[in-house]
Amino acid sequence: IKVFIPRDTTTIALEGNKVARLIQQAAEQYQQDHPEAQIEIIRNGSRGVFWLEPMIEVQTSTGRVAWGPVSPKDVDSLVESGLFQGEQSHDLALGKAEELPFLKKQQRLTFARAGITDPVSIADYQAHDGFKGLKKALALTEQNIVDEVKASGLRGRGGAAFPTGIKWQTVLDCAGPQKYIVCNADEGDSGTFADRMVMEADPLMLVEGMTIAGLAVGADQGYIYLRQEYPVAHQILNEAIANAYEAGFLGDDICGSGKRFHLEVRLGAAAYICGEETSLLESLEGKRGLVRAKPPLPAIEGLFGQPTIVNNVLSLAAVPYILAEGGQSYADYGMGRSRGTLPFQLAGNLQQGGLVELAFGTTLQQLLDDFAGGTASGRPMKAIQVGGPLGAYLPESQWNTELDYEAFSAVGAVLGHGGIVVFDDTVDMSEQARFSMEFCVEESCGKCTPCRIGSTRGVEVIDRIRSKENPEANMELLEDLCDTMIHGSLCAMGGMTPFPVQSAVQHFPDDWSGYTQKTS
Ligand code: NAI
Ligand code: SF4
Repeated sequence: IKVFIPRDTTTIALEGNKVARLIQQAAEQYQQDHPEAQIEIIRNGSRGVFWLEPMIEVQTSTGRVAWGPVSPKDVDSLVESGLFQGEQSHDLALGKAEELPFLKKQQRLTFARAGITDPVSIADYQAHDGFKGLKKALALTEQNIVDEVKASGLRGRGGAAFPTGIKWQTVLDCAGPQKYIVCNADEGDSGTFADRMVMEADPLMLVEGMTIAGLAVGADQGYIYLRQEYPVAHQILNEAIANAYEAGFLGDDICGSGKRFHLEVRLGAAAYICGEETSLLESLEGKRGLVRAKPPLPAIEGLFGQPTIVNNVLSLAAVPYILAEGGQSYADYGMGRSRGTLPFQLAGNLQQGGLVELAFGTTLQQLLDDFAGGTASGRPMKAIQVGGPLGAYLPESQWNTELDYEAFSAVGAVLGHGGIVVFDDTVDMSEQARFSMEFCVEESCGKCTPCRIGSTRGVEVIDRIRSKENPEANMELLEDLCDTMIHGSLCAMGGMTPFPVQSAVQHFPDDWSGYTQKTS
């Protein structure tokens, strides 16, 4: 009897470890009473159906059946109702996990194994197509690997959507005995958790993706720059890396090919700006996380001045599928120049928060209708922030926008890393605008004036508007300030902070009119 209890951060935050302990005790008792029974408890990752975590599954002869959300107080009654026999009579029974509409309607390429396998088991990973891409890559030339990634149309999933194949080509074309692969796992956008889910549910996919990147450009050293706020991911990644070394998928002689790739995890120290690639490299070199001016691009002069691929977790995690199934089969998904799938992260005021991997092209409205289950508060939705704290707030009139990089850009918004945060009609968008500026005050690296000083002035100006102090003139000043930050900032932190501010002003005038209308 196989029992699956996730060990990811979300489940743990919802008393998942306590549930696991109680089920372990119940299993020991059950085995004493039924000496023929053998119960194996597997701590899997989450499938991303966070609103049902802790979700327990049991393997039956007809598939995996689930119960959730399970709290410690439910364990006794679950066991009595026939948990270990896979009987689905309890109130928390969900039926077959794969048949849950939330999962069934998705198009999972990158997250195909999430929640299904034991995250650190090499055997389980291989039994589910793991290392198939790496084995193919080992038989290809460097240029052939890069060409496959180009053919997939994959674009940087960290948010900037730069074509991954072109970035790899730039590094491949650089001379140099030493090149690096750096994985940006400093997932800092509010409402995002897809990187964390990869690292907690299927870390070997990231190991495989980075190794393929190393083979593609001739780099033999990789670093995963991980935010220290992800201690569970840290633990699981390190276990997965150790197992990959032991099984010969990392090291000096990968799968007996004579090719080498080494990988280690480095922890950041909780600065949002260290998710910006040049600041990340500074931090990785042991310095303060200050943004570097570009050029030179990291692809040419990156870590320790050497050619470096810096890719987000999701970009690298997409690579094993692309090599295993061919670039074209990835490119068959999506629309326009946005090829493949994006893992959307549903968060904020929603009934059903979690991860939804879909091909580009669905509308935002459709995504929410199909998966979100309405607001948690039961009140109407008012604003949706897409793409993290630097992304615009979309009003209802824009919810029919297709989830596609270009379509979002056409309405002044960004898809970014796929984070979607929903607000109901109690939100005051002038407060949200103030929050955006305040976030920039907190997180600015301080290197350039428009961002360092501009964000502080931005908070003051919004405060003046909200206290009805010469509001018309201050609204004009706010516009001017946003313009200066967009055009004068060195990186996206200062350059994009105005997007949520401007969208809050432009699309939600009612939240400002109380301050700006004359009260004669
Ligand atoms: P960027 O547009 O400057 O660069 C994108 C990437 O392409 C970089 O890696 C850059 O080095 C590379 N690149 C550009 N031209 C190249 C060339 N000719 N050859 C090779 N490589 C080339 O964007 P940036 O500043 O790196 O990222 C900004 C984005 O980050 C924003 O759009 C935002 O959505 C996202 N973001 C993501 C966060 C997260 O938590 N994932 C947090 C904050 C922002
Ligand atoms: Fe630093 Fe802000 Fe300038 Fe970026 S925009 S370099 S975070 S001060």
